[in-house]
Amino acid sequence: IQNIGVLTSGGDSPGMNAAIRAVVRGSLYYKLKVTGVLRGYDGLINADFIPMDGKSVANIIQRGGTILKTARCDDFRSKEGRAKAYKNLVESNIDALVVIGGDGTFTGADVFSQEYDFPIIGLPGTIDNDLEGTDLTIGYDTAINTVVNAVDKIRDTAESHDRLFIVEVMGRDSGMIALRSGIGVGAEAILIPEAKTGIEDLIHRVEHGRKDKASKIIVVAEGDEAGGAYNVGEALKANFPHHDIRVSVLGHIQRGGSPSCADRVLASRLGVAAVEALLEGKSKVMVGQINKEIVFTPFSKAIKHIDATQVTPAWLKLAEILSL
Ligand code: F6P
Repeated sequence: IQNIGVLTSGGDSPGMNAAIRAVVRGSLYYKLKVTGVLRGYDGLINADFIPMDGKSVANIIQRGGTILKTARCDDFRSKEGRAKAYKNLVESNIDALVVIGGDGTFTGADVFSQEYDFPIIGLPGTIDNDLEGTDLTIGYDTAINTVVNAVDKIRDTAESHDRLFIVEVMGRDSGMIALRSGIGVGAEAILIPEAKTGIEDLIHRVEHGRKDKASKIIVVAEGDEAGGAYNVGEALKANFPHHDIRVSVLGHIQRGGSPSCADRVLASRLGVAAVEALLEGKSKVMVGQINKEIVFTPFSKAIKHIDATQVTPAWLKLAEILSL
C-alpha cells in the first residue's frame, strides 16, 4: 500500500477531524502518501481528491464538523456509481481507503470492497453509538454532553415555571443518546425505540409519579415509536390539561461543537490503528475499542444495530429507580 484515501461520510460527528488528522499523520509516519476525498462517496465518484500532508491537518483536532465535508450519497448505491469510483481511485493511484462514518458508510464500503477486492478500513464516526464492535463511537461523548448542557438549561426554566418538558434528542434507530443523557440530566422518564415504553405507560407514570416535583423532564429519542416529542406532547396535554407542558427538539446542535477530550483521544487512537491495519493486510473491517483494546469487526457485523434493551437492561432499571 502506497497511497491511502481518507473520507468522511453520512452525518458528521464531533471528532471526525481528529480522526482525519490521525489517519494523515499515521500514514506519513509509515511513509505513505495520503489523499483526502471530499464529500464522502460523492468525492470518489467525481474524483474530488486533494493531496494531504502534516500541515493540512494542523489545528483541526479541536474543531467540530469535518474539513473533508460529508454527504449521504445515493449514486454509490448503484453499480455504475461504484464503477466510476473504482476507475477514479485506480487513475489517481489510491490503493486503499479509510472511511469514517456510520452504518450507511460501512454498508457502501462493504459492497464496494467485495466488488473490487479493494482494501478498506472503517472508523466509527457517528453520534448515535449504535455500532457493534466498539464501546463508543467517535462523537457520541461530545453529543451526550451537548444534550446534558442544553437540558440543564431547560431544567432551570422548567423549575421556575413548574413545567413538564418533553425534550427530543437524536437517534433515528437507537436510544443510546436518550438513555445515557436522560440518566445524566435526571430525567423523570426516557423513551427509546428499544424499550417500547409507549404513551400509555408514560401517561401512567406521570399520573402516579411524585406530585411534589416542580419540574419534569421527559427525554424522547427521535426514533421512538411514540412518534416524536410533539406527538408525546399532544398526548400528555390531552390527558393532563392542568399541567403546563412544553416541547423542545434539540436537533442538529447535537452534531456540532468542539469534540470532548474522550472523543479526540478515541479518534486519534483508532485513526492510527486504521493505517496500521491496512499495512497488516486487513480489510472490510471497522476498527473499534472494547474494554480499552483495539478490536476489528467485519463491516457486515458492525452495522447490526445494537439493541439497547439487550446491552443495557441494567441502565434502563437504573433510570427508573432514579426517576422516583
Ligand atoms: O446518524 C446521525 C444522525 O444525527 C441521527 O441521529 C439522525 O437521525 C440523523 O443523523 C439526521 O440526519 P440528517 O442530518 O441528514 O437530517
